[in-house]
Amino acid sequence: MPEAAAISPRAVAAVPPRSVSGERGVLPIVGQGLAVRRGGRTLIDGIDIAFEGHGLTVVLGANGAGKSLLLRLLAGLVQPDGGAVTWAGSAPDRSRALGVGFVFQRPVMLRRTAIANVRYALKAAGVPRGERDAIAQRALQDAGLGALADWPARLLSGGEQQRVALARALAPAPQALLLDEPTSNLDPASTLAIENLVCGARKAGTRIVHVTHDLGQARRLADEVVFMHAGRIVERAPAASFFDAPSSGRAQAFLEGRIVL
Ligand SMILES: Nc1ncnc2c1ncn2[C@@H]1O[C@H](COP(=O)(O)OP(=O)(O)OP(=O)(O)O)[C@@H](O)[C@H]1O
Ligand SMILES: [Mg+2]
Repeated sequence: MPEAAAISPRAVAAVPPRSVSGERGVLPIVGQGLAVRRGGRTLIDGIDIAFEGHGLTVVLGANGAGKSLLLRLLAGLVQPDGGAVTWAGSAPDRSRALGVGFVFQRPVMLRRTAIANVRYALKAAGVPRGERDAIAQRALQDAGLGALADWPARLLSGGEQQRVALARALAPAPQALLLDEPTSNLDPASTLAIENLVCGARKAGTRIVHVTHDLGQARRLADEVVFMHAGRIVERAPAASFFDAPSSGRAQAFLEGRIVL
């Protein structure tokens, strides 16, 4: 198998944001009174949150806090049992789905080549056929995967698949990008390069919500932090003040590595 090239540290900002969703955007993304209950457990417990404008929000919290579930709710992939999500004031709908890029904790690759995975996302976003290949090539190159573009995506390593997933999410230049631990399987160099891609998207104006357990990464990337515990948002604060002195005891314990069950 050819080796993946080092990821280009060049940011993706050179690809101008396009409106994949026509006239109707997705921002602000708002969740009001969100609740999810399963099997007698309350997994999301009355969350009110809004994401608008620019910037990058890091979501922190222990395993099982509800971070992935919150992202899925905001993406319109899970229906809440209580409350509602809106994109730019109306319910999430398929026609705008590609305005919200999503990178899952465990990426799912279509049974085709890496570049065909990216082209598929561009097709779904309504990008004309003649433009898809160049944009897809560029997105994979930016993710350091130019040499693996024609490799079956499902045969790529876990970290390479995460990079394809990020390239696939970024290629249509979404207005919002929801990232669920996008570097959890990556080596340190690839992690930094992915962070550069994410920074480039933020500079290009993409609103980013980024779940991570990597506190170094959180400090490097976050404009603000949302801290979750047991299906609730305990704290939302600018990154500097959160990392300096979180206002809740739970967040403080989390940052110190103490168990917060
Ligand atoms: N579809 C589902 N059905 C039942 N329980 C679920 C479902 N999705 C999530 N859960 C439960 O909800 C809780 C929150 O899950 P979630 O995946 O959001 O956690 P997380 O904060 O992302 O954790 P991690 O850091 O481990 O990824 C967990 O206890 C999980 O078992
Ligand atoms: Mg998760």
